[in-house]
Amino acid sequence: MYILGINAYHGDASAALVKDGELIAAVEEERFNRKKHCAGFPAAAIRYCLEAVNISAAELDHVAISRDPSAHLQKKILFSVGRLQNLSGLIVARLANAAKVRDLREELARALGLSENLRAQFHRVEHHKAHMASCFLVSPFERAAILSIDGFGDFISTMWGVGEGTKIDVLGQVEYPHSVGIVYTATSQYLGFPKYGDEGKVMGLAPYGTPRYMEQFRDIIRTDKHEGFKLNLDYFLHHSEGVDMSWDDGSPTIGRIFSDKFIEVFGPSRASGEPLSSLHEDIAASLQARLEEISFHALQRLHERTKLDRLCLAGGVAFNSVMNGKIPLNTAFQEVYVQPAAGDAGTAVGACHWVYNVLLRQPRSFVMEHAYTGPEFANGQIEGVVRGSHFDWRELSDRQLTQAAAQAIADGKIVGWFQGRMEFGPRALGNRSIVVDPRRAEMKDILNARIKKREPFRPFAPSILEERVGDYFEQTHPSPAMLMVYQVKQDKRSVIPAVTHVDGSGRLQTVAHSTNPRYHQLISDFERLTGVPVVLNTSFNEDEPIVCTPEEALNCFQRTRMDILFLGNYMLQR
Ligand SMILES: [Fe+2]
Repeated sequence: MYILGINAYHGDASAALVKDGELIAAVEEERFNRKKHCAGFPAAAIRYCLEAVNISAAELDHVAISRDPSAHLQKKILFSVGRLQNLSGLIVARLANAAKVRDLREELARALGLSENLRAQFHRVEHHKAHMASCFLVSPFERAAILSIDGFGDFISTMWGVGEGTKIDVLGQVEYPHSVGIVYTATSQYLGFPKYGDEGKVMGLAPYGTPRYMEQFRDIIRTDKHEGFKLNLDYFLHHSEGVDMSWDDGSPTIGRIFSDKFIEVFGPSRASGEPLSSLHEDIAASLQARLEEISFHALQRLHERTKLDRLCLAGGVAFNSVMNGKIPLNTAFQEVYVQPAAGDAGTAVGACHWVYNVLLRQPRSFVMEHAYTGPEFANGQIEGVVRGSHFDWRELSDRQLTQAAAQAIADGKIVGWFQGRMEFGPRALGNRSIVVDPRRAEMKDILNARIKKREPFRPFAPSILEERVGDYFEQTHPSPAMLMVYQVKQDKRSVIPAVTHVDGSGRLQTVAHSTNPRYHQLISDFERLTGVPVVLNTSFNEDEPIVCTPEEALNCFQRTRMDILFLGNYMLQR
């Protein structure tokens, strides 16, 4: 049985394919059309998913989209009544999108250029139910509490519940216009980070500041006695004025959503590119601390209600790896599962599993242990690309490959590492990565000067052998998708300065031999040379979506000042 899942008309448009309950392929549209966070219809991603199982669309049994415009319709209408003079931009944009979701069958046929009839049954899965399914149904847990925490989807910002077997019971939700994701986005805009997905930069800025504005942020967003919270709407525009938003085929854009009240309370907003002051750092620190308070409050209530000590987490806020890492320290939850594409891209996976497990009541048999669900290229295909380039190249055996790369990293080179299937989700996890030596503090600036050009305050992340985590970090729970931040042990901070953030933390990827043997071997070879089982891992790109094909990797190598490139078993040097 083939099920296609789609996230469309929403940030990070994506497609996923599940065959008999097993996830075979999942990928974001941005990797094909090269538009970051692209929000249109994921036609190329769908084509890839079909190719991965070698079927045509006519052979699909089910197609599920992670949107249901009819969900919460009454609430939407009630909210809109009385505001018709001044319709919220968000509502207008969402209504326009809703119309597209209704024509999914035609849109799919058009996008794939099909004339034949699709026999598939079509399903709409409510956004947050798709998020909940995207973590719980592919988790290793038979029972778990679930929290989906987000900006908005289908009029809801946050939903929580319990998963047991193939059942997901919703216990509660927070409705539009209240959203912790919106608080993070609005504050990021105020701080001069207006792009879609910029919230992660503010999370990286927070450790430089002191949370001096907790009183203000406790006024901006207030908890209730249950899991929920409410915004002080005086600080926001999204609910009242026309906020320009676009969810077309390009990168999504969101107009200003913080109100003048932010300026009254904190002073003038920062324009992008203006210098950052301690005020900005302190606001970022307060925002992050308040986000953690809100989330831990919700999680504690959820734990009291469910008495479960395992948690599955999804939604855009689940990318807040600083918060994620602190959950076991601040709540009664002991184990946390976050899947690699915790944000909207992952709802394509959730929609598939919702149909397979919940609607069709098929047993769960699949655990999403890694993110390697995208396109791959055999050495035979890569060879043509390598031969067409003007670089010196050599073909290496598997053993030579990881040894040569480890030696280059230890020598202080910037190494492009392109192997196997591309990652699903925003993190490069050792298949489309740039890898350097974490022992050299200067590598951060070198990487920024030569390739990444990121703001200097943003940290770079470590990949560590799973079996060595306890030697370097205060917590040891695996973090295979780089979605947990832990404290680096005091005595190791000077050993790996390039991946230790200003507050002594690191957003680590734990690398298991079972899920990525080649990357595990590379780090093992690096350890053999240096005694350190850690490398610095950043995504293989330069201000663009992560590279997908060998041609794009070679092109990035050419454009930037990377030193050495490993494409499959080929080594290319300048
Ligand atoms: Fe979402």
